[in-house]
Amino acid sequence: MILWFSGTGNSRYVAEMLAAELGQSLRRLTPDLRNGSLTPAPHDDTVIWVCPVYSWGLPPYVRAIIKNVDLGSAPLIHHLVLTCGDDCGLTAEMWRSDLAKRGWLSGLAFSVTMPNNYVCMSGFDVDTAELAQHKLSAASLRIREIARSIADFRAGSGDCPNEPDDVVRGRFAWIKTRIIYPWFVRHAMSPKPFRYTRECISCGKCAAICPLRNINMSEPSGKSTDSSERRRKRPVWGTDCAFCLACYHVCPRHAVMYGDKTGTKGQYMNPQS
Ligand SMILES: Cc1cc2nc3c(=O)[nH]c(=O)nc-3n(C[C@H](O)[C@H](O)[C@H](O)COP(=O)(O)O)c2cc1C
Ligand code: SF4
Ligand code: SF4
Repeated sequence: MILWFSGTGNSRYVAEMLAAELGQSLRRLTPDLRNGSLTPAPHDDTVIWVCPVYSWGLPPYVRAIIKNVDLGSAPLIHHLVLTCGDDCGLTAEMWRSDLAKRGWLSGLAFSVTMPNNYVCMSGFDVDTAELAQHKLSAASLRIREIARSIADFRAGSGDCPNEPDDVVRGRFAWIKTRIIYPWFVRHAMSPKPFRYTRECISCGKCAAICPLRNINMSEPSGKSTDSSERRRKRPVWGTDCAFCLACYHVCPRHAVMYGDKTGTKGQYMNPQS
């Protein structure tokens, strides 16, 4: 069983390709799983978690599901496949530690380098088209390699490797995951700065793509005297946000802004998912 979470489609693409290679079922990590249960099929002995890296750690949304979801009592082995723009720090270690708190067995961990989608701070932007294309071309080979490793592990033909983490950690991994990640989660993941600009055409794509259903299209109650303007629905962000940035990247008019940090930044959606 492959459990996936994705904002801009990279992790979804990886999950779908792994499912095809391994003949595994796919299950999106939906908000109800933070307090719900998920029963693996009787023959399912493997869980593969696929999600992006956020500030050199797991998305807090995914951690909330790991912490609370009921997967039943059948013995399961868990693997992890991360997607990242550059490097993951100690994200795999964080995942192993979260799993251990549930008493779950962690197996292999991998990362796949994909186009970057983080744009909400100065100095961070999407990749150039050439770099994004290069990463996407390299990814399919990498995903097949990961599928082979997981299949070997399942078949018992491959011993558990001495180094079970095949993850790009990058430099200063400890500082990034242990110091910057907690700061980022606390101070840089608020949905409050999201807003729309005058370019908004009320298409509703930002609301439709939100994996947490955190955006409502509502008629503005403001001062506009133009009644047709008042009747047009506009996005209103709630507080239950995974900070996946899908709403920003999907907008056909680049009308979603994050404070004053995204005015001239690029947009990215995985073209294959
Ligand atoms: C909030 C946030 C934080 C991110 N932090 C990192 C990071 O620490 N390291 C990294 O390599 N990429 C980082 N990225 C980039 C994503 O991990 C990468 O683009 C990922 O493939 C996006 O997956 P998705 O398309 O499935 O949402 C970050 C993206 C977001 C939205
Ligand atoms: S996707 Fe963009 S144009 Fe469409 S409703 Fe949202 S903000 Fe407006
Ligand atoms: S509001 Fe935007 S950033 Fe937050 S979860 Fe929804 S799509 Fe992702």
